[in-house]
Amino acid sequence: MEKLATYTVTAALPYANGPLHLGHVAGVYLPADIFVRFLRLKGHDVVFICGSDEHGAAITLRAKKEGISPQEIVDKYNNLIGEAFQNFDISFDIFHRTSAQIHHETSQDFFKKLYENGKFIEEVSEQYFDEEFQQFLADRYITGTCPKCHSDGAYGDQCEKCGSDLSPTDLINPISTLSNKPPILKSTSHWYLPMNLHEEWLRSWIQDGILDGKEQHQPKEWRNQVIGQCMSWINGGLKPRAMTRDLDWGVKVPLEHAEGKVLYVWLDAPIGYISATKQWALDNGKNWKDYWCKTEAEDRKLVHFIGKDNIVFHSIIFPILLKDHGDFILPDNVPAYEFLNLEGDKFSTSRNWAVWLHEFIADHPKRIDELKYVLTSIAPESKDSEFTWKEFQTRVNSELADVLGNFVNRTLVLTQKYYEGIIPNPGSLSKEDEELIAAIENTPSKIEKLIYAYKLREAQAEWMNLARQGNKYLADQEPWKLIKTNPARVKTILYCANCLTLQLALVARPLLPGTSEKITKMLNVDVSKTSWDSKPTDILTEGHCIGTPEILFFKIEDTLVEEERAKLLKNDSTHTKFPPMKEAISFDEFTKMDMRLATIKHAEKVENADKLLKLTILTGIDERTIVSGIAAHYTPEEIIGKTVLVLLNLAPRKIRGIESQGMVLMAEDTEGALSFLSPEKAFEAGHTVR
Ligand code: 2FM
Ligand code: ZN
Repeated sequence: MEKLATYTVTAALPYANGPLHLGHVAGVYLPADIFVRFLRLKGHDVVFICGSDEHGAAITLRAKKEGISPQEIVDKYNNLIGEAFQNFDISFDIFHRTSAQIHHETSQDFFKKLYENGKFIEEVSEQYFDEEFQQFLADRYITGTCPKCHSDGAYGDQCEKCGSDLSPTDLINPISTLSNKPPILKSTSHWYLPMNLHEEWLRSWIQDGILDGKEQHQPKEWRNQVIGQCMSWINGGLKPRAMTRDLDWGVKVPLEHAEGKVLYVWLDAPIGYISATKQWALDNGKNWKDYWCKTEAEDRKLVHFIGKDNIVFHSIIFPILLKDHGDFILPDNVPAYEFLNLEGDKFSTSRNWAVWLHEFIADHPKRIDELKYVLTSIAPESKDSEFTWKEFQTRVNSELADVLGNFVNRTLVLTQKYYEGIIPNPGSLSKEDEELIAAIENTPSKIEKLIYAYKLREAQAEWMNLARQGNKYLADQEPWKLIKTNPARVKTILYCANCLTLQLALVARPLLPGTSEKITKMLNVDVSKTSWDSKPTDILTEGHCIGTPEILFFKIEDTLVEEERAKLLKNDSTHTKFPPMKEAISFDEFTKMDMRLATIKHAEKVENADKLLKLTILTGIDERTIVSGIAAHYTPEEIIGKTVLVLLNLAPRKIRGIESQGMVLMAEDTEGALSFLSPEKAFEAGHTVR
């Protein structure tokens, strides 16, 4: 038999600067875990790697914010994240950390080999420097206006608004995030990776799957958005990129003339995958090279599960480094996920608009598989998607509980009731039975194809469809009625239903390992010696006695949805009913506004404009025209004679060809209803307001 491919599967190393939220889980760790669990069942030799990314500005800036040392920050979050992964039953072979000695050595050796082979260019350039903090300002240490989309708050490495990749010197009006002051320019030397020299092979590898003249992967296997993002980078022209930084937190550059310099976090973090494999190999009597190095003898595949913000690093920069080094395989695929949103908005750590994994686990320890199910159902595989607590409730109640739970429970309860738990022998099969058995037999191969193609949403949907089919089968066959009139037929029906129950459990192993285990326990089946391809009909042999049926899923009450939503809103001031306060203005700015009481002398509709009224108002000092968007709220007749609040010195504007000389100030509620602001006492037009 041909030897199955060996897989090295990595999941993006999370920065140890904050907890994980559901967006991270849905778009990296859960799909990676499903994929790996499946590969193991298929019999592949797999190593599943992750760990915390403990260097870079993400860490030092967080440490500054929390007023503790970078070491304390990484220790704190490495523990929190590692524990959450464990409780969520993500089956990494190792969860390592980039502060480990073995990692520093591995990335230094990697850098040295490239350096010695002349793969870097050393260059002196002028870089921004914070005089007060005596520090160069790379990446997140500097912000400013984005040169591409002109939004404020772009970082020295990236604009989060438009996604452009930036250098600090691209920023307009740069400001140090340390001192909040404009930086000066100062010269410093760094080692650059001449990415421009790699365009040609990258193009053919990414687009056509050809590497070193051989087909490495089918181009259509890579996700469109991955190929698209890479090609747009390459077509835009790759530029040399600095691989070192002037910082004191990180992996030291292993050269004599490199005092105060560390490796750029993107040369350090992905190498963390290699050093983690080394540590795992040491702990488990393996050879790490069997998982990372090229060989003609074996098919070795490297797969990186990442979020879309990491595409370029894993499909362009890291592959260049691996290829320059020479010993390594290149990724076979980079399944990148789009983003998950939450209740109509982006996840935001700073605004605490998030469902944190460790909090979900603490609050709902018995609903781990329910969360896995829902996150896979909505996984942002090809476009951004959204998590809402309502959908969480609906999918758990109407799919897991009403379909799967109901089917499994009915099957097992009836088997206990009619046959004291011994699975009956089937008689001759009807057309419906045969269809069901065929579905049972075909499902694993269908799901297998989908998982190998990284289509986990569809794979899970197939699985749920099988449960649906089972539910319908029982409802159509009505064994509870037939038991009186045709007991022999009931034996066949319950035999088929038990086989289906076991198949659902077997196929659920990668997707919902906890649920799978519960079902196999109820069926009294030991799956430890079975594989992905084991057949239920071979396992449920004559005389097999099942265990005690239990409820698989408990329905989610409306109160849970309400409480969770309220918790989100409480955390986040921007999602209260009312808009947040605007930026502060000075008293001088306030006094510039000329606000007065004015009386409406005349009002009429503006032709062809449903929302507008043309008002003639008396201000006490003059008579003027104001066009106001109130026609949906007031008729002309009802407002003539009213005394209202007006901003008089607003620069005149033409609205529908009419010059509007000021603005009538209105209160507006959250539904958009408008109301005039009139004086409580009978004040006449012309009096000022302050
Ligand atoms: O984006 C991130 O979360 C970074 N910590 C990078 C992770 S991938 C890396 F490890 F290669
Ligand atoms: Zn931008």
